[in-house]
Amino acid sequence: MKLTRREALAGALAAALGGAGIYELVDRLGGSPPQRANVTTLPPEQHVLEGLEVIQDSGIDVLVPPLHHQLVTARIRAGDLREAQRELDGALGYLERRYQPTPAGLGITMGWGLPYFREHVAAAWRTHAPRDRRARSLALLEARRFPSDPADTVLEQNDIAVLLRSDSTDHIADAARALFHDLRIFEVSSIRKGFVGGGLGRGPSLPKKVALAAGVSGADLIPDKSQLFLGFTSTQRAGMGPRRIANFETLGYVDLGPSQYFRHGTSMHVSHIFEDLEAWYLNFDFRERVLTAFRPGISVTFDTVTIRQDPRDVSTDAQVKRQFRDTGRIGHSASIQTTSRLPRDHVAEDGTVYEKGTAIPVRADFNTLDNPFAWSADPLRDGMQASPAAGVHFVVFNPTSDDFHRNRLAMDGVLPDGTRLPLPARARGQGFNAVLRTTHRQNFLVPPRRHRSFPLAEL
Ligand code: HEM
Repeated sequence: MKLTRREALAGALAAALGGAGIYELVDRLGGSPPQRANVTTLPPEQHVLEGLEVIQDSGIDVLVPPLHHQLVTARIRAGDLREAQRELDGALGYLERRYQPTPAGLGITMGWGLPYFREHVAAAWRTHAPRDRRARSLALLEARRFPSDPADTVLEQNDIAVLLRSDSTDHIADAARALFHDLRIFEVSSIRKGFVGGGLGRGPSLPKKVALAAGVSGADLIPDKSQLFLGFTSTQRAGMGPRRIANFETLGYVDLGPSQYFRHGTSMHVSHIFEDLEAWYLNFDFRERVLTAFRPGISVTFDTVTIRQDPRDVSTDAQVKRQFRDTGRIGHSASIQTTSRLPRDHVAEDGTVYEKGTAIPVRADFNTLDNPFAWSADPLRDGMQASPAAGVHFVVFNPTSDDFHRNRLAMDGVLPDGTRLPLPARARGQGFNAVLRTTHRQNFLVPPRRHRSFPLAEL
């Protein structure tokens, strides 16, 4: 009996939610995940994952992220918001009793988009919306296109994005089924899948093996030890924001209002980026790849994949301008560091001292072979292709959307003091951008765990 279009789509959706598809390769090729700490208490934050292991590479501390990642975006289908809130809370409670908040268990982070706050809880949002003191705006902003983005980058309007992270594809499939198949409150718009890991002397690099097995062009050029497709480690501990730094309340960027409703919350940016592996490895030799990814003038031993990014290595606006004047180029990390590192020591209200040069953004990005998604409710709009393509689902937690916008502008040579370095979009001198193409973007607000289900609906 011939399936209707709706039945076919529903079938494909269920398959995409559960099955790992091409990502089964990750388990088969990735070997056993690392031992993880045992943690039972749930942090008040949704975006903080416990039990992240720290290893050393080239004498540098590197965080070991979870192996598997899945991000599901959706619009709300529900009529009765309070009922939906109870149902979702129930499903999340079931998952949190079943899995520890560690890579060995499952990390669940729910981010809510501006369409949800404007269309479903508008009055409460006007009262409780967190405000960005520095940008004099809401802490949650509409996504925008950046100078190096192509004109067709889609600025998305989802109500929700759910990030699932674990060393086990089964745990992720269980959660995706519980939230998006068993519950009937969301209309899924896309499913995005990927992985991070391996390499760094702990067995062959997973990105390389998976890209090779999937027949992605340029895969054979990826360094054996590399944690990521583009050949360099990007989870040095010093380059990642420490535990609570991206919380709304920590750095004082955000006015949470009298109710403090969103305390322990944060903002999340989600984008999909294609990576042209052949252009990167054939047009840039090793020396140029290092100074493009990090900063002009840096030199390291051939084939190094992990490069120190401690506070003493951080570049200032003046240094980035001088590097550009002398070489006509900017480095990915150096240019971003003009906005992603603390300009001076900061003592948070809980007494934690964050030293000058401490990183602020907490990145959770992962490599993918999605083209550009594993599944889309609107394949035409999303430009879905069947063949695997190298890329990144870029996910990052910042204190505010504007804080992320400052990082991303600096990546294009637009520095925080307003200087616009004269670099054409995606020019060879503009860091990684020459081999990247961003297809989709959206900003989300990640409420604290106690308000993660349909925030403000109870008010
Ligand atoms: C697909 C592309 C990308 C790749 C392969 C990539 C890779 C890297 C690498 C290797 C580093 C240096 C390691 C480190 O300092 O931790 C880094 C740093 C960083 N990247 Fe990217 N990145 C990509 C895209 C982006 C985008 C789109 C952003 C958005 C702003 C971004 C933000 C950052 C930040 C905030 C840092 C840390 C800078 C610091 O404070 O030291 N990256 N990235």
